[in-house]
Amino acid sequence: SKFTIVDQETCIACGACGLNAPNLFDYNDEALAYVMWDNNQGTGRIPEHLQDDMMDAYEGCPTDSIKIADSPFDGDPLKFE
Ligand code: F3S
Repeated sequence: SKFTIVDQETCIACGACGLNAPNLFDYNDEALAYVMWDNNQGTGRIPEHLQDDMMDAYEGCPTDSIKIADSPFDGDPLKFE
């Protein structure tokens, strides 16, 4: 299984991820995206049945703000970059 997190430093609040993966991404007061499962810490394993949505969101983000990895991010979107 995978982990995902939004880099809110580069998110431009375009809203695509919530359309592609409504059970994964929501938006804060500033319309910046975050992962609902773990309050955008990147520590929650994404269930198998949501992985296709996650990949759609990943590929559809215009600023590459959605990160995916095999290990937890521990709150740092750039942990593996
Ligand atoms: Fe932001 Fe990308 Fe979603 S710009 S709103 S993380 S599709």
